[in-house]
Amino acid sequence: MKICVLNLSGNVGKSTLAVHLLAAFTPGAKIISVESINASNVNDVEAMDVEELSASRFKEIFREIMVNDDVIIDVGASNVAAFMTEMTRFKSAVGEFDLVLVPTVPTDKQQRDTIATINWLHKLGIEGHKVRVLFNQYATEALEPIDLVYALVTGYGATDGQGKAVFEPHAVIALNEVYEMAKASKKTIGDLAMDGTDWKAARGLAKQASDLVALERAISGQMTHDLAVTAHENLSQVHGLLFPVDAIGKASTSPAATNVEKARRA
Ligand SMILES: Nc1ncnc2c1ncn2[C@@H]1O[C@H](COP(=O)(O)OP(=O)(O)OP(=O)(O)O)[C@@H](O)[C@H]1O
Ligand SMILES: [Mg+2]
Repeated sequence: MKICVLNLSGNVGKSTLAVHLLAAFTPGAKIISVESINASNVNDVEAMDVEELSASRFKEIFREIMVNDDVIIDVGASNVAAFMTEMTRFKSAVGEFDLVLVPTVPTDKQQRDTIATINWLHKLGIEGHKVRVLFNQYATEALEPIDLVYALVTGYGATDGQGKAVFEPHAVIALNEVYEMAKASKKTIGDLAMDGTDWKAARGLAKQASDLVALERAISGQMTHDLAVTAHENLSQVHGLLFPVDAIGKASTSPAATNVEKARRA
């Protein structure tokens, strides 16, 4: 599948989701980070094949999109304007994508930029069912409805944005500090969640040895693991929503369309 993660705004979680939601579930996928050299933090995950290319090298990017079957393009904020200009020049490029994922976060500026991004994609001619909004950094404990937290985007989805993108069913990624912790560990959330270390036993040993450093490590290891399990459940659920698996166990190549179809039939 060919997926582009895009938003005119920075800090909406494009790189985070390119790695932990998309690449982590698609072994062998080619990840292209459209960034000024060394500005990307996607590289931080071990064992992931990330190529950094600035938007000025769009022909190479376009070539990679055409050559690879599974490719994830993460467009960094520093390069988004140039990337968009190039997409306007190379008219067929946008048609290569099976999905353009547009993460958004609760702040007003980012929501307004999300709307501008969707309008721009629409103008470029991409079909609305291939553009999917992803509601990121949702503070679960506040228990506020999605329609309120992301009121600008959902309001737009119900009016001018209708048909330009898929807004529902809402794909929501919770705010979780483990995404920040994962950077230091160079592991994916999935890897952290699957880590089988027995932190309770490690804590016992550290206490016996009066090793305060090891004790702290065991305590924070347990907490990171718990948060990673929570985040991984959330990521798996959203991944299932974006890429429904058909009866023969194959992920649909037209994820958003399938969701739209389901919504229509319901
Ligand atoms: N669901 C989340 N919960 C908590 N923190 C998050 C979440 N998603 C992203 N973050 C954090 O938000 C910050 C911005 O994320 P990220 O770097 O992925 O944004 P970006 O859209 O790629 O930005 P840029 O356009 O500048 O490359 C990072 O510190 C990341 O760890
Ligand atoms: Mg980024």
